[in-house]
Amino acid sequence: MQEVITPAGRLTGAFSVPGDKSISHRYAMLASVAEGVSTIHNYSSGADCHSTLACIRGLGIDVSVQGRSVTVHGRGLGGYRAPSADLDAGNSGSTIRMLSGLLAGQHFRSRLVGDESLSQRPMQRIMGPLAQMGAKLSARDGRFPPLEIEGGVLTPIDYAMPVASAQVKSCVLLAGLHAAGETTVREPAPTRDHTEVALREFGVPVECGGGWAKVKGPARLRAQELSVPGDLSSAAFFLVAGAAVPGSNLVIESVGVNPTRAALIDFLISAGAQVRVLNSSIRNGEPSGDLAVSGSRLKGGRIEGRLAAALIDEIPVLAVLGAASEEGLTVRDAAELRIKETDRIEAVAENLRRMGVLIETSDDGFHIPGGQRFRSATVISRGDHRIAMAFAVAALMADGPVIIEGSEAASVSFPEFWSTLRGIAG
Ligand code: S3P
Repeated sequence: MQEVITPAGRLTGAFSVPGDKSISHRYAMLASVAEGVSTIHNYSSGADCHSTLACIRGLGIDVSVQGRSVTVHGRGLGGYRAPSADLDAGNSGSTIRMLSGLLAGQHFRSRLVGDESLSQRPMQRIMGPLAQMGAKLSARDGRFPPLEIEGGVLTPIDYAMPVASAQVKSCVLLAGLHAAGETTVREPAPTRDHTEVALREFGVPVECGGGWAKVKGPARLRAQELSVPGDLSSAAFFLVAGAAVPGSNLVIESVGVNPTRAALIDFLISAGAQVRVLNSSIRNGEPSGDLAVSGSRLKGGRIEGRLAAALIDEIPVLAVLGAASEEGLTVRDAAELRIKETDRIEAVAENLRRMGVLIETSDDGFHIPGGQRFRSATVISRGDHRIAMAFAVAALMADGPVIIEGSEAASVSFPEFWSTLRGIAG
Protein backbone atom coordinates (compact mmCIF):
# COMPACT_ATOMS: atom_id res chain seq x y z
CA MET A 1 0.00 0.00 0.00
CA GLN A 2 1.05 3.59 -0.43
CA GLU A 3 0.12 6.92 1.11
CA VAL A 4 0.60 10.26 -0.59
CA ILE A 5 1.46 13.06 1.82
CA THR A 6 1.20 16.63 0.68
CA PRO A 7 3.17 19.43 2.37
CA ALA A 8 1.40 20.85 5.41
CA GLY A 9 0.88 24.34 6.73
CA ARG A 10 0.66 24.53 10.50
CA LEU A 11 -0.36 21.40 12.44
CA THR A 12 -2.96 21.81 15.17
CA GLY A 13 -5.03 19.63 17.47
CA ALA A 14 -5.26 17.53 20.61
CA PHE A 15 -5.27 13.76 20.22
CA SER A 16 -3.97 10.53 21.70
CA VAL A 17 -1.64 7.80 20.44
CA PRO A 18 -2.05 4.03 21.03
CA GLY A 19 -1.13 2.44 24.33
CA ASP A 20 2.58 1.89 24.86
CA LYS A 21 3.82 -1.11 22.89
CA SER A 22 6.52 -2.14 25.38
CA ILE A 23 4.17 -1.96 28.37
CA SER A 24 1.31 -3.73 26.55
CA HIS A 25 3.53 -6.74 25.74
CA ARG A 26 4.68 -6.99 29.34
CA TYR A 27 1.21 -6.68 30.87
CA ALA A 28 -0.18 -9.37 28.55
CA MET A 29 2.69 -11.78 29.24
CA LEU A 30 2.64 -11.24 33.01
CA ALA A 31 -1.17 -11.50 33.11
CA SER A 32 -0.91 -14.85 31.30
CA VAL A 33 1.23 -16.32 34.12
CA ALA A 34 -0.60 -14.57 36.96
CA GLU A 35 -3.24 -16.33 39.03
CA GLY A 36 -6.68 -15.04 38.07
CA VAL A 37 -8.30 -12.68 35.61
CA SER A 38 -6.45 -9.49 34.63
CA THR A 39 -7.89 -6.63 32.63
CA ILE A 40 -5.64 -4.34 30.61
CA HIS A 41 -7.13 -1.02 29.47
CA ASN A 42 -5.79 1.01 26.55
CA TYR A 43 -3.88 -2.01 25.24
CA SER A 44 -1.84 -1.14 22.13
CA SER A 45 -3.78 -1.45 18.87
CA GLY A 46 -0.51 -2.29 17.10
CA ALA A 47 -0.12 -5.63 15.33
CA ASP A 48 2.96 -6.49 17.44
CA CYS A 49 1.00 -6.52 20.69
CA HIS A 50 -1.71 -8.61 19.05
CA SER A 51 1.01 -11.11 18.08
CA THR A 52 1.75 -11.44 21.79
CA LEU A 53 -1.94 -12.13 22.48
CA ALA A 54 -2.02 -14.77 19.70
CA CYS A 55 1.05 -16.48 21.20
CA ILE A 56 -0.37 -16.65 24.71
CA ARG A 57 -3.66 -17.98 23.29
CA GLY A 58 -1.56 -20.65 21.56
CA LEU A 59 -0.31 -21.58 25.04
CA GLY A 60 -3.84 -22.28 26.25
CA ILE A 61 -4.59 -18.90 27.82
CA ASP A 62 -8.09 -17.52 27.38
CA VAL A 63 -7.84 -13.94 26.07
CA SER A 64 -10.70 -11.68 25.03
CA VAL A 65 -10.48 -8.27 23.41
CA GLN A 66 -13.22 -5.64 23.75
CA GLY A 67 -12.12 -2.51 21.89
CA ARG A 68 -8.94 -1.35 23.61
CA SER A 69 -9.47 -3.52 26.70
CA VAL A 70 -8.03 -7.00 26.97
CA THR A 71 -9.03 -9.64 29.50
CA VAL A 72 -6.50 -12.38 30.22
CA HIS A 73 -7.39 -15.50 32.23
CA GLY A 74 -4.03 -16.23 33.82
CA ARG A 75 -3.28 -19.81 34.86
CA GLY A 76 -0.24 -19.23 37.06
CA LEU A 77 3.45 -19.59 36.31
CA GLY A 78 3.27 -23.26 35.31
CA GLY A 79 -0.15 -22.98 33.67
CA TYR A 80 0.73 -22.84 29.97
CA ARG A 81 -0.33 -25.85 27.88
CA ALA A 82 2.03 -27.29 25.26
CA PRO A 83 1.17 -25.51 22.00
CA SER A 84 -0.31 -27.60 19.21
CA ALA A 85 1.22 -25.36 16.51
CA ASP A 86 4.06 -22.88 16.03
CA LEU A 87 3.78 -19.66 18.02
CA ASP A 88 3.83 -16.78 15.53
CA ALA A 89 5.51 -13.59 16.79
CA GLY A 90 4.89 -11.83 13.46
CA ASN A 91 7.16 -8.77 13.21
CA SER A 92 7.71 -8.50 16.94
CA GLY A 93 11.18 -8.83 18.45
CA SER A 94 9.77 -8.08 21.90
CA THR A 95 7.30 -10.98 21.64
CA ILE A 96 9.82 -13.61 20.61
CA ARG A 97 12.61 -12.49 22.95
CA MET A 98 10.57 -11.85 26.09
CA LEU A 99 8.16 -14.78 25.74
CA SER A 100 11.19 -17.08 25.37
CA GLY A 101 12.02 -16.29 28.99
CA LEU A 102 8.65 -17.63 30.12
CA LEU A 103 8.81 -20.65 27.78
CA ALA A 104 12.26 -21.63 29.06
CA GLY A 105 10.69 -22.62 32.38
CA GLN A 106 7.83 -24.74 30.93
CA HIS A 107 8.06 -28.52 30.74
CA PHE A 108 7.35 -28.79 27.05
CA ARG A 109 8.82 -27.93 23.67
CA SER A 110 7.70 -24.88 21.72
CA ARG A 111 8.66 -23.36 18.40
CA LEU A 112 8.54 -19.61 17.77
CA VAL A 113 8.39 -18.26 14.23
CA GLY A 114 8.16 -14.78 12.73
CA ASP A 115 7.76 -12.89 9.48
CA GLU A 116 10.56 -12.31 6.97
CA SER A 117 12.02 -9.39 8.95
CA LEU A 118 11.93 -11.14 12.34
CA SER A 119 13.44 -14.25 10.73
CA GLN A 120 16.62 -12.20 10.08
CA ARG A 121 16.99 -10.88 13.62
CA PRO A 122 19.58 -12.30 16.04
CA MET A 123 18.43 -14.50 18.90
CA GLN A 124 21.81 -15.54 20.40
CA ARG A 125 21.47 -12.66 22.84
CA ILE A 126 18.67 -14.55 24.61
CA MET A 127 19.75 -18.09 23.74
CA GLY A 128 23.03 -17.67 25.66
CA PRO A 129 21.61 -16.75 29.06
CA LEU A 130 18.61 -19.12 28.77
CA ALA A 131 20.97 -22.01 27.97
CA GLN A 132 23.07 -21.06 31.00
CA MET A 133 19.90 -21.36 33.07
CA GLY A 134 19.31 -24.88 31.76
CA ALA A 135 16.87 -24.52 28.83
CA LYS A 136 17.66 -26.23 25.52
CA LEU A 137 17.38 -23.93 22.52
CA SER A 138 18.05 -24.21 18.81
CA ALA A 139 17.64 -21.77 15.95
CA ARG A 140 18.21 -21.58 12.22
CA ASP A 141 21.96 -21.21 11.65
CA GLY A 142 22.27 -21.16 15.42
CA ARG A 143 20.83 -17.66 15.71
CA PHE A 144 17.74 -16.81 13.63
CA PRO A 145 14.07 -17.75 14.08
CA PRO A 146 12.44 -20.25 13.96
CA LEU A 147 13.52 -20.68 17.56
CA GLU A 148 12.88 -23.98 19.35
CA ILE A 149 12.82 -24.06 23.11
CA GLU A 150 12.72 -27.13 25.27
CA GLY A 151 11.99 -25.79 28.70
CA GLY A 152 12.63 -27.41 32.03
CA VAL A 153 13.92 -26.80 35.51
CA LEU A 154 15.94 -23.57 35.49
CA THR A 155 18.78 -22.51 37.75
CA PRO A 156 19.27 -18.84 38.62
CA ILE A 157 22.16 -16.89 37.07
CA ASP A 158 23.96 -13.61 37.49
CA TYR A 159 24.10 -12.34 33.92
CA ALA A 160 26.05 -9.37 32.56
CA MET A 161 24.52 -8.41 29.20
CA PRO A 162 27.05 -7.60 26.47
CA VAL A 163 24.56 -5.21 24.77
CA ALA A 164 22.14 -2.77 26.38
CA SER A 165 18.81 -4.45 25.60
CA ALA A 166 15.58 -4.26 27.57
CA GLN A 167 14.29 -7.28 25.68
CA VAL A 168 17.22 -9.41 26.87
CA LYS A 169 17.01 -8.05 30.42
CA SER A 170 13.28 -8.84 30.47
CA CYS A 171 13.77 -12.31 29.01
CA VAL A 172 16.24 -13.25 31.74
CA LEU A 173 14.11 -11.74 34.53
CA LEU A 174 11.03 -13.61 33.25
CA ALA A 175 13.00 -16.87 33.16
CA GLY A 176 14.21 -16.01 36.66
CA LEU A 177 10.60 -16.15 37.90
CA HIS A 178 10.81 -19.94 37.42
CA ALA A 179 14.30 -20.48 38.85
CA ALA A 180 14.63 -21.27 42.57
CA GLY A 181 16.85 -18.49 43.94
CA GLU A 182 18.03 -15.06 42.83
CA THR A 183 18.47 -14.19 39.17
CA THR A 184 20.39 -10.97 38.52
CA VAL A 185 20.80 -9.09 35.23
CA ARG A 186 23.43 -6.38 34.78
CA GLU A 187 23.20 -3.88 31.93
CA PRO A 188 26.03 -1.90 30.31
CA ALA A 189 23.76 1.17 29.92
CA PRO A 190 20.32 1.87 31.39
CA THR A 191 17.40 0.44 29.38
CA ARG A 192 13.65 0.80 29.81
CA ASP A 193 12.52 -0.64 33.15
CA HIS A 194 8.89 -1.49 32.32
CA THR A 195 9.39 -5.16 33.23
CA GLU A 196 10.68 -4.30 36.69
CA VAL A 197 7.81 -1.83 37.25
CA ALA A 198 5.18 -4.28 35.93
CA LEU A 199 6.49 -7.22 37.98
CA ARG A 200 6.03 -5.15 41.14
CA GLU A 201 2.45 -4.35 40.07
CA PHE A 202 1.81 -8.09 39.79
CA GLY A 203 3.15 -8.54 43.33
CA VAL A 204 6.67 -9.77 42.59
CA PRO A 205 9.43 -8.00 44.53
CA VAL A 206 12.20 -6.77 42.24
CA GLU A 207 15.41 -5.32 43.62
CA CYS A 208 17.19 -2.75 41.46
CA GLY A 209 20.42 -0.80 41.77
CA GLY A 210 22.57 1.24 39.42
CA GLY A 211 22.67 -0.99 36.37
CA TRP A 212 21.24 -4.22 37.79
CA ALA A 213 17.89 -5.84 38.57
CA LYS A 214 17.18 -8.99 40.56
CA VAL A 215 14.16 -11.30 40.99
CA LYS A 216 13.72 -14.26 43.30
CA GLY A 217 11.99 -17.40 42.12
CA PRO A 218 9.83 -19.31 42.15
CA ALA A 219 7.47 -16.35 42.05
CA ARG A 220 3.69 -16.05 42.22
CA LEU A 221 1.92 -13.29 40.30
CA ARG A 222 -1.48 -11.91 41.29
CA ALA A 223 -3.95 -10.85 38.56
CA GLN A 224 -4.36 -7.06 38.18
CA GLU A 225 -6.46 -4.35 36.59
CA LEU A 226 -4.08 -2.16 34.61
CA SER A 227 -4.09 0.79 32.27
CA VAL A 228 -1.44 1.41 29.61
CA PRO A 229 -0.24 5.01 29.01
CA GLY A 230 0.15 6.33 25.45
CA ASP A 231 3.30 5.33 23.61
CA LEU A 232 6.04 7.99 23.75
CA SER A 233 7.80 6.38 20.77
CA SER A 234 4.60 6.86 18.71
CA ALA A 235 4.15 10.38 20.06
CA ALA A 236 7.73 11.07 18.89
CA PHE A 237 6.58 11.43 15.27
CA PHE A 238 4.18 14.20 16.23
CA LEU A 239 6.62 15.83 18.64
CA VAL A 240 9.09 16.21 15.78
CA ALA A 241 6.39 17.25 13.30
CA GLY A 242 4.93 19.81 15.72
CA ALA A 243 8.35 21.28 16.46
CA ALA A 244 9.57 21.31 12.83
CA VAL A 245 6.48 22.63 11.01
CA PRO A 246 6.32 26.39 11.66
CA GLY A 247 3.28 27.73 13.52
CA SER A 248 2.16 24.31 14.81
CA ASN A 249 0.53 23.65 18.18
CA LEU A 250 -0.17 20.06 19.22
CA VAL A 251 -1.19 18.36 22.44
CA ILE A 252 -0.71 14.60 22.72
CA GLU A 253 -2.78 13.33 25.61
CA SER A 254 -1.76 10.86 28.36
CA VAL A 255 1.62 9.75 27.09
CA GLY A 256 3.96 7.58 29.17
CA VAL A 257 6.98 9.52 30.42
CA ASN A 258 8.82 6.82 32.37
CA PRO A 259 12.29 8.29 33.10
CA THR A 260 13.96 5.39 31.25
CA ARG A 261 12.13 6.51 28.08
CA ALA A 262 11.91 10.28 28.59
CA ALA A 263 15.43 11.01 27.32
CA LEU A 264 13.52 11.82 24.14
CA ILE A 265 11.86 14.83 25.75
CA ASP A 266 15.14 16.12 27.17
CA PHE A 267 16.87 15.62 23.83
CA LEU A 268 14.12 17.45 21.92
CA ILE A 269 14.32 20.37 24.35
CA SER A 270 18.13 20.45 24.04
CA ALA A 271 17.70 20.47 20.25
CA GLY A 272 15.55 23.60 20.54
CA ALA A 273 12.04 22.06 20.49
CA GLN A 274 9.38 23.69 22.65
CA VAL A 275 7.95 20.66 24.45
CA ARG A 276 6.15 20.72 27.81
CA VAL A 277 4.75 17.94 29.99
CA LEU A 278 1.37 18.89 31.51
CA ASN A 279 -1.06 17.20 33.92
CA SER A 280 1.40 14.56 35.14
CA SER A 281 0.13 11.51 37.00
CA ILE A 282 1.27 7.99 37.89
CA ARG A 283 -0.70 4.80 37.29
CA ASN A 284 0.48 1.24 37.85
CA GLY A 285 3.90 2.67 38.65
CA GLU A 286 4.20 4.32 35.21
CA PRO A 287 4.22 8.15 34.99
CA SER A 288 2.35 9.89 32.17
CA GLY A 289 1.34 13.38 31.09
CA ASP A 290 -0.01 15.45 28.21
CA LEU A 291 2.74 16.57 25.84
CA ALA A 292 2.43 20.03 24.30
CA VAL A 293 4.67 20.97 21.38
CA SER A 294 4.82 24.05 19.21
CA GLY A 295 6.70 25.17 16.12
CA SER A 296 10.28 25.85 17.19
CA ARG A 297 13.65 27.03 15.98
CA LEU A 298 15.58 23.75 15.88
CA LYS A 299 19.32 23.71 16.51
CA GLY A 300 19.99 19.98 16.10
CA GLY A 301 22.32 17.91 18.25
CA ARG A 302 24.48 14.87 18.87
CA ILE A 303 23.42 11.39 20.02
CA GLU A 304 26.09 9.03 21.33
CA GLY A 305 27.00 6.72 24.21
CA ARG A 306 24.16 6.02 26.64
CA LEU A 307 21.90 8.48 24.85
CA ALA A 308 22.04 6.32 21.71
CA ALA A 309 20.66 3.34 23.68
CA ALA A 310 17.99 5.53 25.31
CA LEU A 311 16.77 6.97 21.97
CA ILE A 312 17.22 3.90 19.80
CA ASP A 313 13.59 3.71 18.58
CA GLU A 314 13.30 7.45 17.91
CA ILE A 315 16.48 7.92 15.87
CA PRO A 316 14.72 7.55 12.47
CA VAL A 317 12.41 10.50 13.14
CA LEU A 318 15.21 12.45 14.86
CA ALA A 319 17.15 12.10 11.58
CA VAL A 320 14.33 14.05 9.93
CA LEU A 321 14.57 16.68 12.65
CA GLY A 322 18.36 16.83 12.08
CA ALA A 323 18.02 17.60 8.38
CA ALA A 324 15.50 20.39 9.10
CA SER A 325 17.55 21.85 11.98
CA GLU A 326 20.15 24.60 11.75
CA GLU A 327 23.20 22.56 12.76
CA GLY A 328 22.20 19.02 11.82
CA LEU A 329 22.44 15.73 13.70
CA THR A 330 25.30 13.34 14.45
CA VAL A 331 24.55 9.81 15.70
CA ARG A 332 27.25 7.43 17.00
CA ASP A 333 27.25 4.20 19.07
CA ALA A 334 23.97 3.11 17.50
CA ALA A 335 25.03 -0.06 15.65
CA GLU A 336 21.88 -1.73 17.09
CA LEU A 337 19.96 0.27 14.46
CA ARG A 338 21.30 -2.13 11.86
CA ILE A 339 19.47 -5.11 13.41
CA LYS A 340 16.07 -3.58 14.07
CA GLU A 341 12.99 -4.37 11.91
CA THR A 342 15.26 -3.34 9.03
CA ASP A 343 18.76 -1.84 8.84
CA ARG A 344 17.58 1.58 9.99
CA ILE A 345 20.85 3.34 9.16
CA GLU A 346 20.56 2.28 5.51
CA ALA A 347 16.79 2.86 5.40
CA VAL A 348 17.14 6.41 6.75
CA ALA A 349 20.05 7.15 4.39
CA GLU A 350 18.30 5.78 1.30
CA ASN A 351 15.09 7.70 1.91
CA LEU A 352 16.79 10.97 2.87
CA ARG A 353 18.84 10.76 -0.35
CA ARG A 354 15.67 10.12 -2.35
CA MET A 355 14.38 13.39 -0.88
CA GLY A 356 17.58 15.21 -1.88
CA VAL A 357 19.00 15.35 1.67
CA LEU A 358 22.72 14.78 2.33
CA ILE A 359 23.74 12.13 4.88
CA GLU A 360 27.00 10.33 5.61
CA THR A 361 26.71 6.92 7.24
CA SER A 362 29.14 4.93 9.38
CA ASP A 363 28.98 1.46 10.95
CA ASP A 364 27.29 2.78 14.06
CA GLY A 365 25.49 5.94 12.99
CA PHE A 366 25.38 8.86 10.60
CA HIS A 367 25.91 12.58 10.18
CA ILE A 368 23.26 14.81 8.60
CA PRO A 369 24.19 18.45 7.96
CA GLY A 370 21.53 20.98 8.96
CA GLY A 371 19.58 23.52 6.95
CA GLN A 372 18.45 21.06 4.26
CA ARG A 373 15.28 20.99 2.18
CA PHE A 374 13.15 17.90 1.55
CA ARG A 375 12.21 17.33 -2.08
CA SER A 376 9.12 15.64 -3.44
CA ALA A 377 9.99 11.94 -3.92
CA THR A 378 8.92 8.33 -3.47
CA VAL A 379 10.23 6.83 -0.23
CA ILE A 380 10.14 3.18 0.84
CA SER A 381 9.29 1.82 4.29
CA ARG A 382 11.15 -1.49 3.77
CA GLY A 383 8.32 -2.96 5.87
CA ASP A 384 9.50 -1.00 8.93
CA HIS A 385 6.84 0.91 10.85
CA ARG A 386 9.17 3.58 12.21
CA ILE A 387 10.67 4.26 8.77
CA ALA A 388 7.19 4.71 7.22
CA MET A 389 6.14 7.17 9.95
CA ALA A 390 9.46 9.07 10.10
CA PHE A 391 9.26 9.81 6.38
CA ALA A 392 5.64 10.89 6.64
CA VAL A 393 6.97 13.60 8.97
CA ALA A 394 9.65 14.54 6.42
CA ALA A 395 6.92 14.68 3.78
CA LEU A 396 5.06 17.39 5.71
CA MET A 397 8.03 19.70 5.03
CA ALA A 398 8.69 18.71 1.41
CA ASP A 399 8.38 20.97 -1.64
CA GLY A 400 5.71 18.72 -3.19
CA PRO A 401 3.84 15.44 -2.66
CA VAL A 402 5.71 12.46 -1.23
CA ILE A 403 4.66 8.87 -1.92
CA ILE A 404 5.29 6.47 0.96
CA GLU A 405 5.50 2.92 -0.37
CA GLY A 406 4.76 0.20 2.17
CA SER A 407 2.78 2.59 4.35
CA GLU A 408 0.84 -0.33 5.89
CA ALA A 409 3.94 -1.08 7.99
CA ALA A 410 2.82 1.66 10.40
CA SER A 411 0.14 -0.69 11.74
CA VAL A 412 2.82 -2.71 13.54
CA SER A 413 2.71 -0.10 16.31
CA PHE A 414 0.25 2.60 15.21
CA PRO A 415 -2.62 1.59 12.87
CA GLU A 416 -4.28 5.00 13.35
CA PHE A 417 -1.16 6.94 12.32
CA TRP A 418 -2.35 8.05 8.86
CA SER A 419 -5.78 9.20 10.01
CA THR A 420 -4.25 11.02 13.00
CA LEU A 421 -1.80 12.77 10.66
CA ARG A 422 -4.60 13.84 8.33
CA GLY A 423 -6.61 15.11 11.30
CA ILE A 424 -3.90 17.51 12.47
CA ALA A 425 -2.77 18.59 9.00
CA GLY A 426 -6.30 19.69 8.13
C1 S3P B 1 11.96 -2.86 23.57
C2 S3P B 1 13.33 -2.72 23.67
C3 S3P B 1 14.15 -2.18 22.59
C4 S3P B 1 13.31 -1.41 21.59
C5 S3P B 1 12.08 -2.17 21.16
C6 S3P B 1 11.21 -2.45 22.37
C7 S3P B 1 11.22 -3.43 24.70
O1 S3P B 1 14.79 -3.23 21.92
O2 S3P B 1 14.09 -1.10 20.45
O3 S3P B 1 11.34 -1.43 20.22
O4 S3P B 1 9.98 -3.36 24.72
O5 S3P B 1 11.87 -3.94 25.61
P1 S3P B 1 16.17 -3.88 22.43
O6 S3P B 1 15.92 -4.61 23.69
O7 S3P B 1 16.58 -4.80 21.32
O8 S3P B 1 17.11 -2.73 22.60
